[in-house]
Amino acid sequence: MFDLSLEVLRVVEDAAIASARTMGMGDPHTADHAAVESMRRCLDTIAIDGTIVIGEGERDSAPMLYIGEKVGSAKGANTPLTVDIAVDPLEGTNLCATGAGGAITVLAASERGGLLHAPDCYMEKIIVGPAAKGSVDLDAPVKHNLKAIARRLQRGVDDLVVVVLDRPRHQKLMADIREAGARIRLIGDGDLSAGIAAAVAGTGVHAVMGSGGAPEGVLTAAALRCLNGEILGRLVVKDERQRERMQSMGIQDTDKIYTTQELAPGHNIVFAAGGVTDGNLLQGVRFFGDGTRTQSIVMTLSPARVRFVDTVHLENKPDVKVRFR
Ligand code: FBP
Repeated sequence: MFDLSLEVLRVVEDAAIASARTMGMGDPHTADHAAVESMRRCLDTIAIDGTIVIGEGERDSAPMLYIGEKVGSAKGANTPLTVDIAVDPLEGTNLCATGAGGAITVLAASERGGLLHAPDCYMEKIIVGPAAKGSVDLDAPVKHNLKAIARRLQRGVDDLVVVVLDRPRHQKLMADIREAGARIRLIGDGDLSAGIAAAVAGTGVHAVMGSGGAPEGVLTAAALRCLNGEILGRLVVKDERQRERMQSMGIQDTDKIYTTQELAPGHNIVFAAGGVTDGNLLQGVRFFGDGTRTQSIVMTLSPARVRFVDTVHLENKPDVKVRFR
């Protein structure tokens, strides 16, 4: 029986392997290109009529996986498997290029209209896991939000770890978090993978705060729908030109705070991510003599399933050996 989650698992695994081969080359473009090419190729082997709604950019700036591109072997066919697809083929291109931890490959799919067509701008975000869901407010002072999260997690504010992208724009946010007494984990890149980690107990991440990419915000929301976490996000409008462009895309209220459900309203969401380099949640790709080992997460909203998948991709040789771990 056709199971889309197994198909998209294959997509993120293959893209993780392709980009992991470029790890440490010092070239983010090559790393990204490897993931994009692999994803594109793999998507076309799946019997879906897919449309990229979040991808590598507009058609004129992206040769592959551009917004509006049709993918899947059943494109244009009259198939019930008509899906919208959001991808971040390699989240953390710099991380992969330098061999730093936390790079992942990401894909989310849903029935048509199930993922917000977010513009390529920043989004102000606050992300928490299931226990703290409903306790935070994007407009509340940082201290209030941290107190609310701590209360829900039944611990002190000083026990919390908040992930923040290490950017000059976050100076005030960092000062506010420090003043409130929480600890900070600064990351070079990857607020999407941090957002997923915040919704999984035991990862040591209790919240993500600050602004990052809006497309990453939608992908985070798709994952959080499956994990029962929460993201609140507001688009950051750079200038009047960008505001007009957003309005022409149908976003009338550019100051709106989007909820998880509004960012990813689909009923049939499938989300998959593959580890490229070691991170909070997923191990990176390991190459060994007889094959390759990947770690991925693949989730479906309905039925509600979260699968942590450890795959050994073996060489087709008669004497291959598989280790338990
Ligand atoms: P890519 O590696 O996919 O380009 O993005 C990495 C990332 O750190 C995201 O996780 C984050 O949302 C965004 O870039 C932040 O953008 P900027 O680097 O401009 O602050």
